[in-house]
Amino acid sequence: MPVEMNAKSTTANTNPSVKKRVFSGIQPSGNLHLGNYLGALRNWVQTQSEYDNIFCIVDLHAITLPVDPKELHNDIRQLAALYIACGLDPQRCKLFVQSHVHEHAEASWVMCCFTPMGWLNRMTQFKTKAGENTESVGTGLYCYPVLMACDILLYQTHYVPVGDDQRQHIELTRDLAQRFNALYGQQVFTIPEAQIRTVGARVMALDDPTNKMSKTDPNPNSRINMLDDAQTIKRKIARAATDSMRLVTFDATRPGITNLLTIYQALTGQSQETIEEEFAGKGYGEFKAALTDHLVATLAPIQKRYHELMDDQRVLEGILKQGAEQARPIAAATLQHVKEVIGLG
Ligand code: AMP
Ligand code: TRP
Repeated sequence: MPVEMNAKSTTANTNPSVKKRVFSGIQPSGNLHLGNYLGALRNWVQTQSEYDNIFCIVDLHAITLPVDPKELHNDIRQLAALYIACGLDPQRCKLFVQSHVHEHAEASWVMCCFTPMGWLNRMTQFKTKAGENTESVGTGLYCYPVLMACDILLYQTHYVPVGDDQRQHIELTRDLAQRFNALYGQQVFTIPEAQIRTVGARVMALDDPTNKMSKTDPNPNSRINMLDDAQTIKRKIARAATDSMRLVTFDATRPGITNLLTIYQALTGQSQETIEEEFAGKGYGEFKAALTDHLVATLAPIQKRYHELMDDQRVLEGILKQGAEQARPIAAATLQHVKEVIGLG
């Protein structure tokens, strides 16, 4: 599996005493989609036996934009169920809700005081999300990357498996950690590294392949949601933008078909050459039908497990409670160290 990692990260060990720690999270903002799955979640599942895993449902990040309280509450449970339905094993991963471990919010305040405004001014995601509303959006959206840095740093994380769009946030996290360590002359934080796959790290929108697939895109046909049924998937793939060439090949100048082929590649694990050979002389219709079949075959078992989990909320609540109890002592120890070196309390 091609993973963009440095030499150190390929030495991940299966001996529990020397396992490297992985931390990642997704916002509970509804509509978990294929991009989240291929860019993040599926990779967490595939490597969970190699690492000491902590996966978070980052609800404090979800409130950086306006949310309906009932929807948020429900989206948190849905995302937890999807984490497990996609294959994360609560026996091998600490799964928890960010707001259940108050150290995240506390550390975030402290770290905000150490974050130069200039560094946050450079964050492209703020500009995209705030759009024209830079005067009216909450300051939480501006400080979002600091909270994310604290999520990662509180757990002395080695690797952060994410999609390509999070690269800049991880760079900021590293810069903040290095600066803090240098300031106090101590290894308070482990310096984390992003883990970004080469295939599936940037799944593009189906209607406009120049934009990334996103939860917040107003056009529902732009994304395949994890809970879409077979008919919906078929319809969305049939409508997905391609071109008039009718040539099933990877070609950066034709982003529509290339995006669909990349999804196919991520789902099947086949090489580009094998896929191009398979569809040589065939039209887009035939390719789209094959892609639909793979998508349905991948998502149907996940959806079945998801509905079983959602039907028994007690089990889900138990897993999240246990996850928070396991995560908190790790976060608390780092926060305590931070407070000590600063002189707080
Ligand atoms: P978010 O939906 O912004 O909370 O993202 C959760 C995770 O999914 C992050 O690791 C993102 O990098 C990843 N992700 C989001 N959208 C995409 C996409 N279109 N392609 C690949 N990865 C994505
Ligand atoms: N910002 C991430 C996203 O939108 C979500 C996130 C929050 C995260 N905290 C994190 C991802 C810590 C990895 C590690 O996708």
